[in-house]
Amino acid sequence: MNEEATPPSGRQATCTAAPRPDFCGIEKPAPCGIVIFGACGDLSKRKLIPSLYRLFTNGHLPDGFFILGSDRIETDDSGFHGIMEEAASAAFPDNFSQELWLKFSERLFYTAADFNSGDFFVSLPARLKPLEKKFGTGANRIFYMALPPAVYETVIRRIGDAGLASEENGYSRVVVEKPFGFDIESSRHLNGVIGASFSESQTFRMDHYLAKENVQNILMFRFANSIFEPLWNRRYIDHVEITISETLGVEHRAGYYESAGVLRDMFQNHILQLLSLTAMEPPAAFVSERVREEKVKVFRSVRPVPLDRLSEHVVLGQYGAGRINGEETPSYRDEPGVSKTSTTPTYAAMKLFIDNWRWSGVPFYMRSGKRLSKGKAEIAIRFRAVPHLMFSHILEPIGQGRDNIDPNLLVLRVQPDEGISLQFQTKMPDSRACLRPVLMDFRYEKIFLLDAYERVLLDCMTGDQMLFVSGEIEELTWGLLSPVIERLDGMKNSFAFPNYQAGSGGPAEADDLMRRDGRQWRAL
Ligand code: BG6
Repeated sequence: MNEEATPPSGRQATCTAAPRPDFCGIEKPAPCGIVIFGACGDLSKRKLIPSLYRLFTNGHLPDGFFILGSDRIETDDSGFHGIMEEAASAAFPDNFSQELWLKFSERLFYTAADFNSGDFFVSLPARLKPLEKKFGTGANRIFYMALPPAVYETVIRRIGDAGLASEENGYSRVVVEKPFGFDIESSRHLNGVIGASFSESQTFRMDHYLAKENVQNILMFRFANSIFEPLWNRRYIDHVEITISETLGVEHRAGYYESAGVLRDMFQNHILQLLSLTAMEPPAAFVSERVREEKVKVFRSVRPVPLDRLSEHVVLGQYGAGRINGEETPSYRDEPGVSKTSTTPTYAAMKLFIDNWRWSGVPFYMRSGKRLSKGKAEIAIRFRAVPHLMFSHILEPIGQGRDNIDPNLLVLRVQPDEGISLQFQTKMPDSRACLRPVLMDFRYEKIFLLDAYERVLLDCMTGDQMLFVSGEIEELTWGLLSPVIERLDGMKNSFAFPNYQAGSGGPAEADDLMRRDGRQWRAL
C-alpha cells in the first residue's frame, strides 16, 4: 500500500455559501451574567475573554450581559481590564478594536477572592445583584470553572452552599473544564459533588473538540447523505484511524501535564469523542439527549483492552530533542518544570475494538502525540479492497497487483485545512488498464463564524448541551482508560524514554502496532 503518494486531486468542491446572519439555528441567548473563577489564569486570558470579546463585537451576545471575573490576584475592575485588554489584543493582533474593547469592558468586573474561604461565596450574591439589576440579566447565571481541577470541588460546593445553584429566579449553570477527574473514582466523585447542587441539565462539561466545525459536521455528513451510511460498517470498512498530532510541546503546562500524560490529556476526552461520533448509530433526533444516548451505547460496546496483552494494543512514547520547522527543540525532560527522569508519556497509539453488530472485528487505531512532525487532527476511514480485481492479468505483469491498489479512503480533516476527501481508483489516461488513485476533495473556505470556544460559550448561554459531555460518558470513558493507565503506571520504570525524536512521526513501536496487523498508519 503506498501511503506516501498524494494522488493528483481532481476538481475541488468548495463551500461557497455565504455566512448566514440568522446563524442557521443558533439562537441569540437570553440576558445573563457570567462568573469566571480563575479569571486571571491562562484559559481565561487565552480563550474565554478573547472569545467573549469577539462574540460581543460580532453582535452575538445578548444586550443584557456582564462578566464578573474572580481570582486570587488583588486588583480592581480597571486593573482587570488592563490584564484582559492585553490578552485580547494579543489574541487578535490584526483586528483588535480599542473602541469596541472599551465598550466591552464596560461589562467587565472583577472581585478578588480566596476560594478556600466560605465568606467570599456568601458575599457573592450581594456582588452580583447590583450588576444583574444594572444589565437586566435577572438571575441567569453561568459559573465557569477556569481553575486547576484540584479547586473545582471546593468552589462547586461553596456555590451550592451559598444557594447560587438555585433556579428559582433564573437559570444557574456550571461549566467544568477538562480534565474531569483523574481516573474513574475521581470522576465519579466529581459527578457526585456537582450533582449535590446542580442537576445534569445545569452541568456543562467541556470538550472543545466537539465544537470544532468539522467534528460537528460528522453527524451531518454521516446521516444527511444516503450514500455513505450503507457502507459504514464491518462489511465495507477495513479499519479506522483517528489521529491528533501536535508540533507543540508541553509549553508552560508541565505542572498539569506531568501528572496527566497523553492518555488522560487527549484520549479520555478528544480522541474517544471522535471515536464515538464515527462509530455511533443514527440518533432518533438531533437533540443532545438522543445523541448522548447513542454515544453511551458505543462506549458500552468498546471491548476492554486486555491488560495481559497490553503491548499488542497500546504503545507509549516520550519526545526527545529534535528539530521542528527548522528550529531545535528540547526533549520533554528538558522542558521547564519537567522532572529529568520523567516517565510521563507524551505520545500514545492504541487499538480498540467495538463489539457490536456494525463494527465487530474492525480495529480502530488511535494516536496522539506532542512534538510530532506535523500538527493535524483527522479521522481516516479505510475501506476494504475490492473482492476480485478483474484487471489482475493486465496489472500484475506491470507490478500493479491487488496488493498495490490503494483501497478507497475517506478522510475527515478536523484541522488544519478542514474538509473531507475521498480517494478512489480511476484509469490512468491513455493506458490499457493502469489504475491511479484520485481525490475528490471538499474544503471549507474560511467562513467559520464561530471558533470552538465561542460556540460552546454561546451554547451554554442558550442551554444547548449537544457539544458538552454528560456525566455518564465521563465515567464510561474513564472506565475504559483507568485500568490501562493504572497498569501502565505500574510498568513505568521499564519505559525506555525518550523513544521518539521531536519532529518525527512518533515511536517505531507505534508502526509495529499496525504492521503486525498488516497495515500502516497514514503519513502525518
Ligand atoms: C487540550 C490539551 O485539551 O487540547 C492540550 O490539554 C492540547 O494538551 C490541546 O494541546 C489541543 O487542542 P487543539 O484545539 O489545539 O487541537
